[in-house]
Amino acid sequence: MATESQREITVALRPLERFFYCSALAPQHQATCVGAILKTARAFNATHGITGILLFDGARFVQCIEGDGDILNPLIGRILGDERHCASQILLCEPLGQDEERRYPGWSMGYCDVESEDLIASIAALPGAQGLEMLRLRHHNLDLG
Ligand SMILES: Cc1cc2nc3c(=O)[nH]c(=O)nc-3n(C[C@H](O)[C@H](O)[C@H](O)COP(=O)(O)O)c2cc1C
Repeated sequence: MATESQREITVALRPLERFFYCSALAPQHQATCVGAILKTARAFNATHGITGILLFDGARFVQCIEGDGDILNPLIGRILGDERHCASQILLCEPLGQDEERRYPGWSMGYCDVESEDLIASIAALPGAQGLEMLRLRHHNLDLG
C-alpha cells in the first residue's frame, strides 16, 4: 500500500496538460454572463489545481487552461458543451514538456476585457503555438484581473 509521501510524489509527477481554444458568445446570451462564468471557473479551478486566463472582447473568447489531465479533460468537455458560447475552435491541446512551467501559474482564471477587436481574431487565425506566443508577447498590455 502506498504511503502518504509516495502518493504525493505520484501526484506531483503526473503530466500536466494544456488546452487553448477560442469561441464566440452564443447569440441568445449577453456579455454580462461572463461574470457568472468567471465565478464558477475560479471556484472550481482554485480547488482543483487548474490555472489559466480568459480573454473576451464582447463577442469572442480565447482561453488557455492548464492542469492535471484527469481534471482538465472532463472540464474541457463541460466547457465545450456550455451553451453560453458556440463555434469553439481548438487551437492547441497538448501535454506540457517535462520541465515546462505553467504559463499562468498565479491565476485560477485571470480575466481580461480586451478592447481591441482584432486581438482574439488574430490569435485564432494563427497555429496554436504561435497564438500562445502572441498572447505571451501581449501579456504586459493585458489588464488581467
Ligand atoms: C468561455 C467559458 C470558459 C469557462 N471556463 C471554465 C473554467 O476555466 N473552469 C470551470 O470550472 N468552468 C468554466 N466554464 C464553465 C463550464 O462550462 C461549466 O459551466 C462548469 O464547469 C459547471 O459545469 P456543470 O454546470 O456541468 O456543473 C467556462 C464556460 C465558458 C462559456
